[in-house]
Amino acid sequence: MDQSKSSEINLEVIRRHFPALDQKVHGEKLVYLDSAATTQKPLEVIEAVDSVYRQDCANVHRGVHTLSERATARYEDVRNKVAKFLGTEESREVVFTRGVTEAMNLLANSLGSGDHALVPGDEIVIGTLDHHANIVPWQMLCENNGTVLKVIPCDDQGELVLSELDSLVTDRTKVVSIGHVSNAIGTVNDIDRIFAAAKKVGAVTILDAAQSAPHMSINPLDIGCDFLTFSGHKTYGPTGAGVLWGKLEKLEKLPPWQGGGDMIKTVSFDRSSYAEVPWKFEAGTPDIAAVIGMGAGLDFLDNVGRSHVKAHEDALLESMESKLRNIEGVRVVGEPLKRSCCISFTLDGIHPHDAATIMDQSGVAIRAGHHCAMPLMKRLGLPATIRASVGMHNGEDDIDALVDSIKAVREIFA
Ligand code: ALA
Repeated sequence: MDQSKSSEINLEVIRRHFPALDQKVHGEKLVYLDSAATTQKPLEVIEAVDSVYRQDCANVHRGVHTLSERATARYEDVRNKVAKFLGTEESREVVFTRGVTEAMNLLANSLGSGDHALVPGDEIVIGTLDHHANIVPWQMLCENNGTVLKVIPCDDQGELVLSELDSLVTDRTKVVSIGHVSNAIGTVNDIDRIFAAAKKVGAVTILDAAQSAPHMSINPLDIGCDFLTFSGHKTYGPTGAGVLWGKLEKLEKLPPWQGGGDMIKTVSFDRSSYAEVPWKFEAGTPDIAAVIGMGAGLDFLDNVGRSHVKAHEDALLESMESKLRNIEGVRVVGEPLKRSCCISFTLDGIHPHDAATIMDQSGVAIRAGHHCAMPLMKRLGLPATIRASVGMHNGEDDIDALVDSIKAVREIFA
């Protein structure tokens, strides 16, 4: 794309890549401000998925016929694309999952079993800003094996209270798993400080990059974490594919969590032996087309240029925040030191779901609800918020449409 040569995002060029944007909703131009839920898909991704089913539809790792070899080569090549996207070199460190939720369940299950399993009394630390995917799998592990979940609190500004780290992260801490960016209110967490505390006590470090991967560089070697997860559908790829990245030696020590075809070396009724990393974590037929589409999404993002996307989105969020704060009756939720991805707000006296329904009539797609972060909502004393989240395709015109739609809601309720 010519866009890659530019120092700025060329919205006209970018928008041409997203066919879904070229439509009206309730007779109004679609204004898509819900990329945190899932990004729209560029033609490159749609065509990649289409070509899998048109030409290369076969199972992977299972056939010597041409279609199977082509499908396998395309599927395996995505491991190289992911390694390049992350800034790492070793493609065996890339495990394909259905997304962040499955990656977190894999980690919780595998860390909870085998020779190095967590034992009763071991502690796992997460943060109040985390979404359910980084809460519930750990709770299930705690219920099963007596480990204990500890939570870093958050203040009214929407920042984790890191002065509590010394008392929360102790010799008993075996895992520190933290979201990079809050999907609900946009806070960028100080992961350097959190992981430094984890490393001091030798805990396993996990970065949930679900909401940072589309917006910034997430090199796990620079960040210094043991594991990192992200979802393909939030990085402009299809639903159904995501990544667990792990340091090779850490992945090698983890037992597999699901059994079945493709994750084995040999099977007999007495015992089975497992395939090498990463395949031992990929039981059964994967979502081949989604993985290949995810690779196309990552290429697309990198062709546009993540630094360009970041600069563009940071400027948009700044403008959106200042415009929102200027509307009477709007309360922006949180005031994080560093923000990415989204802004959450409430409207005085109006339920977020009512507001979202009316805004949809203006073609404005935002999310209203608890954003899969119910404990955070409880901490903030809110049942729900309205969340506007940005992607590379958004522009100042979208923010103006958002502002107009909020004013329309307020007029209806006046
Ligand atoms: N986790 C997704 C969101 O934030 C679904 O909306």
